[in-house]
Amino acid sequence: MRTNGSDLELGRKKLDWARNHMPIHARLRELYAEKKPFQGLTVAVCSHLEAKTGVLIETLAAAGAHVVFTGSEPMSTQDDVVAALNEQPNITGYAKRGVSDEEFEALQLKALEHEPQLIIDDAAELTARMYAKRPELAEKVIGMCEQTTTGVHRLEAMQKQGILKFPAYAVNDTPMKHLFDNVHGTGESSIANFMVVTNLLIAGKRVVVAGFGYCGRGLARKLRSLGAKVIVTEVDPRKALQAHMEGFEVMSMEKAAPLGDFFLTATGNRDVIRKEHFERMKDGAVLANSGHFNVEISLKDLEELARSKREVRPGITEYTLVDGRRINVVAEGRLVNLTAPTSMGHPVEVMDQTFAMQFMAALHLLEHHKELKPGVYPVPDEVDRRVAEIKLETLGIEIDSLIESQKRYLEAWKYEDIKF
Ligand code: NAI
Repeated sequence: MRTNGSDLELGRKKLDWARNHMPIHARLRELYAEKKPFQGLTVAVCSHLEAKTGVLIETLAAAGAHVVFTGSEPMSTQDDVVAALNEQPNITGYAKRGVSDEEFEALQLKALEHEPQLIIDDAAELTARMYAKRPELAEKVIGMCEQTTTGVHRLEAMQKQGILKFPAYAVNDTPMKHLFDNVHGTGESSIANFMVVTNLLIAGKRVVVAGFGYCGRGLARKLRSLGAKVIVTEVDPRKALQAHMEGFEVMSMEKAAPLGDFFLTATGNRDVIRKEHFERMKDGAVLANSGHFNVEISLKDLEELARSKREVRPGITEYTLVDGRRINVVAEGRLVNLTAPTSMGHPVEVMDQTFAMQFMAALHLLEHHKELKPGVYPVPDEVDRRVAEIKLETLGIEIDSLIESQKRYLEAWKYEDIKF
């Protein structure tokens, strides 16, 4: 993919900045650059192509892999980073920002032509594409690692239908991923981008957060700390109760629709905000989405209700409804933290952890894939723990270790053993 020199220089600088703030990856390069455990293997990385993903790609290449990369979302690719990766040895990328759905698919298929043995995926995009378009290539794949909630759901659906032909590690479900990436990464970066794109104040606003899962919880708590009055909507009674007991107002979207100034969706579901909700919203409401697909806010319904639409600011579409009310949608309802014009994705340190989990899970899969039948598996706890230990080392934080009597106490169940 061609780019001009200044773009390339900017891409290199972005990679430098990310690399300098990703100490776990620096440690992984120290540990594996000589041993080269991925030597002779083609590893496909399908993800949001910006600098942090670039550092994962570089680290895999340093550990011996030939890395083929492609985008998991047409709007989240940064062409300058792609150019700065493509100039490096053992890295071949197929990704471009803003391509049509057809071009996006063609780029993914080009990456698949390299016949990867390992796939590091986001929302199971590349895996699903392979099974849909080039199913014969699955024979060569020894395993894959999945980063998102949505992707794990898709893989479980494939497993149920008997389609999945290799083991898949649900990296999303590890504590080192979802307790930090989904909560803090999505929370901070979605709000930061919402604020930059809209240039509007959060303090004092009524903000409706749809979904109180890991991402929604991070959003709701951080919005509250900025002074917003947060309303939570849910479909799971336990999550709704949890939100209630954390002091948030909980109600149906129907009730919340006329109250909200801003709306943020993080459900991984579709049509969460739809016709009957748009019909009740305030003039000037601003809507954004943090979930993986651009289906949480029903743009189809909004188009049907609108008499006109225009780009009112870069990254914001204003829909004027037949009765004159205006509803604003940020980044076309795509992931606000990754696809808005100013988006840089999650904070670097969070992705250092998440991508270290992907790297270490891929390495574990490489060593153990023969023991695993096709299916979706949790990443072994020792892998998660190891990444946490490396992170603590890089922070210079020491923690206690269990002494012998504590270990025995934690494993005991008989009264005399507990009272020894
Ligand atoms: P989760 O499963 O922990 O939470 C989703 C919550 O939404 C659940 O509590 C569920 O009950 C609720 N929900 C489902 N349908 C709903 C509806 N119609 N109305 C209200 N609530 C509803 O999932 P998690 O980890 O919070 O992820 C959510 C989405 O965010 C997924 O699509 C995931 O892939 C995506 N994600 C996005 C990131 C980003 O960078 N923007 C990073 C990580 C995940």
